Amino acid sequence: MAMPRWTVHGYAIVSADDRIADADGSMPDALRNEADWRMFQSELDRMDAIALGRRSHEATPNRHGRTRIVLSSSLPALERRADGWWWNPSGMATGDMLATVLPEGGAVAVPGGRDVFDLFLGFGFSSFHLSRADRAHLPGGVAVFGACDRGMPAEEVLRASGLAPEQPVILDAENSVSLTVFLPTNPARQAAPASL
Ligand SMILES: NC(=O)c1ccc[n+]([C@@H]2O[C@H](COP(=O)([O-])OP(=O)(O)OC[C@H]3O[C@@H](n4cnc5c(N)ncnc54)[C@H](OP(=O)(O)O)[C@@H]3O)[C@@H](O)[C@H]2O)c1
Repeated sequence: MAMPRWTVHGYAIVSADDRIADADGSMPDALRNEADWRMFQSELDRMDAIALGRRSHEATPNRHGRTRIVLSSSLPALERRADGWWWNPSGMATGDMLATVLPEGGAVAVPGGRDVFDLFLGFGFSSFHLSRADRAHLPGGVAVFGACDRGMPAEEVLRASGLAPEQPVILDAENSVSLTVFLPTNPARQAAPASL
């Protein structure tokens, strides 16, 4: 029998200064883009589960009934609830959580926020879709990765985690929104074995 394997795929739309939200912690209109949303939704359609922070879960209705993994510190480890799996990474390692939620393996989307991106950087992304709204500047806003607050550009954070950028694609020329997909430089990282 083949070992269960999972791939983990990150999705973020950031401002020119690598922010996913403004200084109030809200996602401004400057980061909302129709073409990016369509790309994101079509990616979610091919995923087996979506791992997201508790606030994002509560803010976005699950209209398509997708399997959600909700990160929260409010529970001991992992619980199956009516609205999805709730998971506290301090109580259960990522590999153990995946082995329970997706025992046959599968693809997991990670749409953030920042602490959720940081956590999965440590596990290892199989791809990261970094959309950028070049005209948006959000000084003092929430960074896509914690390291960005320490002066590291998002692209460098991704490179340091073993990913390299593909050629950027223009998603919306009128609004200067582009997409860069980062993929592992080591192809063995495309899927993570259950032992990780
Ligand atoms: N531009 C983008 O692509 C993008 C992507 C995502 C979010 N956003 C925006 O960014 C803003 C900030 O997001 P946010 O940080 O408020 O929301 P969030 O990441 O959706 O939720 C934060 C909550 O998730 C839980 N959590 C996250 N990491 C955890 C960990 N390692 N262990 C345990 N629990 C963990 C905690 O829940 P408990 O409090 O229950 O412990 C935490 O309070 C929002 O406005 C959102 O819309 C933008």
